[in-house]
Amino acid sequence: MSFLADFGEIVRENQPLAPLTYFGVGGPARWMVSPRSVAELAEVGRRCRQEDVDVYVLGAGANLLVSDDGVDGVVIRLNAPAFRKVAWERDRDGLVAEGWAGADLDGVAVKIGAGLSMARLTLDSVERGLAGLECMAGIPGSLGGIIRMNAGGRFGQISDVVSDVTVLDETGQVRRLGHGEVGFTYRHTKLNGSIVVGATLVLRPDDADRVKKRYEEIWDYKKRSQPLADYSAGCIFKNPPNDSAGRLIDQAGLKGHRIGGASVSEQHGNFIVASKGAQARDVLSLIGTIRRTVAERFGVELELEVQIWDRCGNGVPL
Ligand code: EPU
Repeated sequence: MSFLADFGEIVRENQPLAPLTYFGVGGPARWMVSPRSVAELAEVGRRCRQEDVDVYVLGAGANLLVSDDGVDGVVIRLNAPAFRKVAWERDRDGLVAEGWAGADLDGVAVKIGAGLSMARLTLDSVERGLAGLECMAGIPGSLGGIIRMNAGGRFGQISDVVSDVTVLDETGQVRRLGHGEVGFTYRHTKLNGSIVVGATLVLRPDDADRVKKRYEEIWDYKKRSQPLADYSAGCIFKNPPNDSAGRLIDQAGLKGHRIGGASVSEQHGNFIVASKGAQARDVLSLIGTIRRTVAERFGVELELEVQIWDRCGNGVPL
């Protein structure tokens, strides 16, 4: 009997993960748990610590590669309504909403749950004429995952608008961290070991047409330069300082290079696309080939941006 048996319907065993990731490859989760509240999440975390079981947190699966063997641990999904809440400080007419004391005159705050969709929040903010998230156009993900890895692109990143982040830390305490305590750097935070459960963002009121135009321009740029309709996890590697991983991979002649069902996108060198029948091991081999080739050609060690889950935790293929 599973050590999570008394959690009842929120637990499932041997759940396929591939359909829950943008790559669409990889094996199952030994256990999948969808807690209905922060208290329930904390209780599941406590039980896992007690039993020494690894915990993985699944966002929207947009920046994730699951190994073909899957993961031998508990995968947490924050998709219950309690984790998808959104509360705006002001309504669409600019009036301060109930329950918000001391409105911030420099911006409009929004409290969000970690399971909320980035795309949905971005659209909402653009429609409200609030600036700050239009740089996230075309970036999929859940807010929890987006914050955890400080997602963004050349037009901005989520840390630009984060005021505070609420986490369940590795000791089981719920803590509210100010912006400075999160440790935001390029595609990185110091939140390892903690689970993001929510956050407060602060956006800037602006001319609605201007915000919309900028959002559309960024979307257009991405549609032109990235294979958005294919199965991929976005950029595979972080950009090296003052350079572009995509440009290096392109100049190394790797565009179109294929291993099994995985190939380097013809449109953008930093995207690996998975075709029908692809396996995680194809993607992993291709990652290895790219790293070796770019290191030999340019002396640059590319660092992974995509998260890799395997049976021994987060692995880095070489
Ligand atoms: N380039 C090439 N060949 C390529 C790809 C790019 O020559 O195959 C050149 C471009 O022409 C451009 C430069 O490299 O001069 C930079 O390319 P791009 O504008 O596409 O930006 P990037 O640095 O490759 C970053 C983010 C993307 C984000 C875009 C746009 C990283 C690792 N990547 O890409 O984020 O969408 O800016 O905002 O930070 C992601 O994180 O998953 C991601 C896709």
